[in-house]
Amino acid sequence: METPLSPCTFVIFGSTGNLSQVKLMPALYQLEAAGRLPDALRIIATGRRPWDRERWLKEMRHMLEGNVRGQIEPTVLERMQERQDYFQGDITDAGMYDRLAQWLGERPDLPDNLAIYLAIRPAEFGVVTENLSRTGLLTQNGGWRRVVIEKPFGYDLDSAQALQQRLSRFLDEEQIYRIDHYLGKEMVRNLLVFRFANLMLEPLWNRNFIDHVQITQAETLGVGSRAAFYDGAGALRDMLQSHLMQLFTLVAMEPPASMAAEDLRDEKVKVLKSVRPITPGAVHAQAFRAQYGAGNVQGERVRGYLEEDGVPPDSVTETYAAMKLFVDNWRWRGVPFYLRTGKRMAESASHIMIRFKQPPQQLFRGTRLQNVERNWLAIGVQPCECISLQLTSKQPGLEMSTRQVSLDAGLNPGERPGTGAYEGLLLDIMEGDRSLFLRYDEVEYAWRIVDAVLHTWSVERDFIHTYPAGTWGPAASRRLFEEEIDAWRHSIRPETD
Ligand code: BG6
Repeated sequence: METPLSPCTFVIFGSTGNLSQVKLMPALYQLEAAGRLPDALRIIATGRRPWDRERWLKEMRHMLEGNVRGQIEPTVLERMQERQDYFQGDITDAGMYDRLAQWLGERPDLPDNLAIYLAIRPAEFGVVTENLSRTGLLTQNGGWRRVVIEKPFGYDLDSAQALQQRLSRFLDEEQIYRIDHYLGKEMVRNLLVFRFANLMLEPLWNRNFIDHVQITQAETLGVGSRAAFYDGAGALRDMLQSHLMQLFTLVAMEPPASMAAEDLRDEKVKVLKSVRPITPGAVHAQAFRAQYGAGNVQGERVRGYLEEDGVPPDSVTETYAAMKLFVDNWRWRGVPFYLRTGKRMAESASHIMIRFKQPPQQLFRGTRLQNVERNWLAIGVQPCECISLQLTSKQPGLEMSTRQVSLDAGLNPGERPGTGAYEGLLLDIMEGDRSLFLRYDEVEYAWRIVDAVLHTWSVERDFIHTYPAGTWGPAASRRLFEEEIDAWRHSIRPETD
């Protein structure tokens, strides 16, 4: 049985921005449609724009268009609008927080519990929190106070440490919800169940049987209107240090003592701590970056990164980043984990591909079957939410020849409506379940892993590989592979059926 959620006042900073439009408002709408929001929940949108409530509700409706599943249902929209208010204010103006505190205090209809979502520029997390604290909005007397922090948490190791130091002056760790929306994706949640609820996998899940692991996040989208943020971040910070690193920890972690937040997060941290440090001298062997040029994405001509609005013409910011990691523990020693991410790629797809080793005895050597493909376990995160075990089987008929077959466990899209990653995470915030939010040490160890790469790339500014938009990135990234025969798997479907 689901536990009833305690109602709260949900304040969103940056409610007119891109994240709110693409993810937060649509997720709240879907929860409303599913009847999962407590009746008393109130949503306070804050923003700089000089709007009143009516104008906000109109704009919010536009935000939902095209971003929710199916048509907007008038009755759901009405329910959602009824719980909303707009508070106008500029987060850089200290007086705004006093006005906000006073305004909230004068509203007896608002639940005492306060969740504050910072959908704002990372550089502002510290100052906003400080101001919220100064006006007493973070004091937990009467109700809880939770602050949701979007990624990236810091810009590198030093700035993450500085941000943490600043936040911890105003908030206890239990009040901080560092969100990584990949942890809310259906298949990412399923990864834990798949790994730890099935006996068959565990004996194979180690260096004796696994040859290597590939984790890919590719998208056809370009930088869009986010150049101001993205050019200072790049793919390594924007995707790899956060989302891909999370997928990596879930694949590599040991079974936790329980599914409680701290047990789960302890195991993830242990993986990150066991990653072999990338020394400055190993950066070229273990990391690869590139930038998209002009090209065709799904039949449409698109600009190169340097021609995008707001991108400096001499930028060497990477839109593609790949990295090879080794986990120096008993389970994984010697098994490479290859992580890659890119914008303006040939397809939008995220998946985890696990390649098994050759069988110990080459029974078919010298026959037509000698190049038997090794087994793969493919875990599709999106768009296909599926798990596929790819095996070699005999081709029916008199000839002794083989084909690849797959045992598929797909979440059939017709089976039930998909849920977006933010929906479950928003409920977790209201419920106080932090298991799928990042603890500070996870973030810090993730920065430690990429720090030497960030540093090297920031000083080597003369050259960056390029790839035409709409492709799978430069062929040169193959140099990361340990074995000549290995290559990126772009699709979760078996290469030959
Ligand atoms: C965000 C990144 O965290 O994740 C974006 O900032 C990226 O650059 C997005 O496009 C990808 O998320 P999803 O859920 O669409 O795969």
